Amino acid sequence: MIYSRITGTGGYLPDKVLTNQDLEKIVDTTDQWIRERTGISKRHIAVEGQNTVDLAECAARRALASAGRDAQDIDLIIVATTTPDRVFPSTACLLQKRLDRHGCAAFDIQAVCTGFVYALSVADKFIRTGTAKCALVIGAETLSRVLDWTDRSTCVLFGDGAGAVVLEAGEEPGILSTHLHADGAYEHLLSVSGGVGQGYDSLKEGNGYVTMKGNEVFKMAVNTLGRIVDETLEANNMEQSDIDWLIPHQANIRIIQATAKKLKMSMDHVVVTVDEHGNTSGASVPLALDVAVRDGRIKRGETLLMEAFGGGFTWGSILLKF
Ligand code: ACO
Repeated sequence: MIYSRITGTGGYLPDKVLTNQDLEKIVDTTDQWIRERTGISKRHIAVEGQNTVDLAECAARRALASAGRDAQDIDLIIVATTTPDRVFPSTACLLQKRLDRHGCAAFDIQAVCTGFVYALSVADKFIRTGTAKCALVIGAETLSRVLDWTDRSTCVLFGDGAGAVVLEAGEEPGILSTHLHADGAYEHLLSVSGGVGQGYDSLKEGNGYVTMKGNEVFKMAVNTLGRIVDETLEANNMEQSDIDWLIPHQANIRIIQATAKKLKMSMDHVVVTVDEHGNTSGASVPLALDVAVRDGRIKRGETLLMEAFGGGFTWGSILLKF
């Protein structure tokens, strides 16, 4: 039996930091409102000329170094992003060129905040079927570029960044199960309504920016993530107490706390980065993983539950032995 296992992690956040106090000068908001409703105190923002592939490259190189691998060892590159730099080539192909790795499969996955969970699940299937042996899986976003900086209900929530893992074939697990879902019926609650298929003019007059009915998305996220926790535990015949670490998508501290409560898990065993990163969409789960691996909280052999919910709607989870 072939399993896939994470052998290295990496993360990258742009140097530029935007605090809640900075936002108070841009829109009608307060540090107190943002902290109380979301848990966010600051976020990192890519500067002009710094693009998604730049963030992805830094995170990828750090993940390769931590796995003790060279780019030439990689036989699959998947980038989860909703903010690709170009219509084409894909961000994965742009990254492949940067890494001077020629010939292996490389493609993007677009599942908004669930993107990395989708990407890691796909990479797991490639490895389990013997199609790939060593995959680079990245979540990278410049969400700041699709924000309306005059809309206080969305611009305070998001940040830029990238997280990456190296996933390798092995005889021991590894990834135990992956669970992916989507329901396209809720596009009216969370979307960027313009897009190149409708012509570039469709991106004008606000249609190129995130719009969200936050309150309704919040309720859906809490209920849906509660259900996926049950589904994941049941599929693995596990109890809540078998999970060592919850690595949730970092959208809102209150959503994270609700999922932890469902798992009867103390917040000491939940990796939280939303306070410092904001919501980095597809980058948030691998960034959180990297932070907790590097600071020594997550150790080899522990059982991790990753979960995410986002635009689409899309949602998913991954249970794994680290
Ligand atoms: N500062 C001050 N007041 C604000 C701000 C702000 N930045 N934003 C909204 N408000 C006001 C609203 O106008 C409203 O005022 P009113 O009562 O006078 O109408 C009030 O605050 C309450 O607004 P709500 O939207 O009801 O606030 P809520 O408590 O729901 O918090 C939030 C909003 C933080 C967006 C929350 O609903 C949330 O986190 N939703 C889920 C986000 C999510 O998980 N998205 C999925 C992933 S993202 C992706 O996939 C791209």
